[in-house]
Amino acid sequence: MDYVIKSESKEATLELGRALGAVLEGGDVLCLSGDLGAGKTLLTQGIAASLGITSAVTSPTFTLIQEYSALGQGKPLRFIHMDLYRLEHSEEVEVIGVEDAFQDDAICIIEWPKIAHDVLPEDRLDIQIQGSGEEIRVITFIFKTGNWQERLQQVLAG
Ligand SMILES: Nc1ncnc2c1ncn2[C@@H]1O[C@H](COP(=O)(O)OP(=O)(O)OP(=O)(O)O)[C@@H](O)[C@H]1O
Ligand SMILES: [Mg+2]
Repeated sequence: MDYVIKSESKEATLELGRALGAVLEGGDVLCLSGDLGAGKTLLTQGIAASLGITSAVTSPTFTLIQEYSALGQGKPLRFIHMDLYRLEHSEEVEVIGVEDAFQDDAICIIEWPKIAHDVLPEDRLDIQIQGSGEEIRVITFIFKTGNWQERLQQVLAG
């Protein structure tokens, strides 16, 4: 099942992230795909803001994984942000511990998830962002299992 929405500004993408963050809970895994500068980190910043994270969330391009303390629906959670752009070999996915982030007390967001495909849980939300620069973004939500449909309806209802 897919949902497609458009974002005409960076503020709209941030706001979408905030709305999405409000329906997330521990154990959720979100995979963000799209070209350089598509808006993956911006969307993540919106999500982080609604999870009570006050420190700056930037692309963890050099650290690969960054962890924050968050609050999801009132419960303390870990918020784990990964950027796998720099990985070249699938063996590195295990070495940096991508799978270790898939825990009930953590919300995990992965930019450039393709290289980790073999270890991603089936119950996850894939988000593809098309467009870059000043173009309008077309954002597609794809999911196979879980209760994502209901949660996304809530997000898109605003
Ligand atoms: N509608 C829009 N949605 C998202 N970002 C937008 C939009 N319009 C313009 N932008 C700009 O596009 C840039 C998106 O940058 P961002 O760092 O979020 O991309 P990214 O997908 O994380 O890239 P990377 O793959 O390098 O990590 C920002 O500078 C943002 O201001
Ligand atoms: Mg980024």
